[in-house]
Amino acid sequence: MPTDRTILVTGGAGYIGSHTVLELLEAGHEVVAFDNLCNGSEEALHRVEQITGKSVTFLNGDIRDRKALDRLFGAHAIDAVVHFAGLKAVGESVNAPLAYYDNNVNGTVALCQAMAAAGVYKLIFSSSATVYGIEAPVPYQEAMSRGTTSNPYGTSKAMVEKVLEDLSQADERWRIGLLRYFNPIGAHPSGLIGEDPKGTPNNLMPYISQVAVGRLDQLSIFGNDYPTADGTCERDYLHVVDLSAGHVKALQCLEVPGVHAYNLGTGKGVSVLEMVKAFQRVTGQQVPYRFAPGRDGDLPAFWADPTKAERELGWQARHSLEDMMRDTWNWQSANPLGYDERNSTA
Ligand code: NAD
Ligand code: UFG
Repeated sequence: MPTDRTILVTGGAGYIGSHTVLELLEAGHEVVAFDNLCNGSEEALHRVEQITGKSVTFLNGDIRDRKALDRLFGAHAIDAVVHFAGLKAVGESVNAPLAYYDNNVNGTVALCQAMAAAGVYKLIFSSSATVYGIEAPVPYQEAMSRGTTSNPYGTSKAMVEKVLEDLSQADERWRIGLLRYFNPIGAHPSGLIGEDPKGTPNNLMPYISQVAVGRLDQLSIFGNDYPTADGTCERDYLHVVDLSAGHVKALQCLEVPGVHAYNLGTGKGVSVLEMVKAFQRVTGQQVPYRFAPGRDGDLPAFWADPTKAERELGWQARHSLEDMMRDTWNWQSANPLGYDERNSTA
């Protein structure tokens, strides 16, 4: 039986959240998932139950709703919180900054207030490589300070990190993990759960797979004159199953008071063109593309130094790029319209 038995997963019906709920159940935890479904699907949790043969308690609610959180903590003996809930579309955040600060920053403050009121002080937060800022040298290391972020989404992540550090300074009962994700892609190998963005995808991998499945005509590759080997941007893509397993491992850092930051990435940069070619090679599907102007705010190349997570948590990204492509296609081809039940074949 794990030390922290019952875990509250905010944003548990979303992409990374649902995969992490699955890993937590497999590791023997009880899970309460809390999500307002603005970008998630309850069906994802039903499928997690189908895969694991275990049940998840789902509560539909908003992290900014203190009363709902108080009811939740009153009804369930929560040992630790894994906090995914938030908005994540970089471009949208530029046009709607208040929605991002409200959901991501105010939402986290409300969550921490409810946790403290309930005597729960263990928290894992979904942070991002974006907090290293636009001038950081690669590979990114946790010892580097946070830098200048280029959009309100990134700023909201950096602000939450600072809020959590201040909280831990003020009250030593807090034990907080800041997990800085690089670029999660892929899906559970069952093909039953995966990434199902609402509307047109902003991110590369779901765009590629939706072109392959015929939902979109063509991929636009944003920029081909960056100072990289083939001129397209490089990112550190990691399998969502590895990322989710990292959350289970990170629970152990909560045995020690204070704030613990970890990069979760593979340590390798892969270009956009290499991604398209790898997808075509592994799946046998064609992905028509064209080169388009660079996207505002995109950095040419960044990747993680993941050695701290390996040393301190015993975590490493294990899946290959081929695995990521195969599992993405497995999910997308079986669920062409995602969790939309009227059209899904899963
Ligand atoms: P997602 O949109 O699939 O999941 C987020 C979930 O939170 C959704 O199910 C959504 O309905 C829910 N949610 C949003 N606002 C809420 C609120 N106010 N109250 C309750 N629920 C709310 O996104 P994801 O890719 O699974 O990302 C999870 C977390 O990881 C996010 O915080 C995101 O910023 C962070 N992150 C993601 C990436 C990435 O590339 N996917 C990279 C770095 C960090
Ligand atoms: N790209 C395209 N065409 C597309 C979509 C993306 O060429 O249609 C390119 C982008 O220009 C970039 C690369 O593919 O060079 C990856 O783009 P994503 O949007 O998939 O990912 P980002 O690196 O921009 O951002 C992601 C998450 C952020 C997070 C950041 C760092 O979306 O939440 O990684 O972790 F902050």
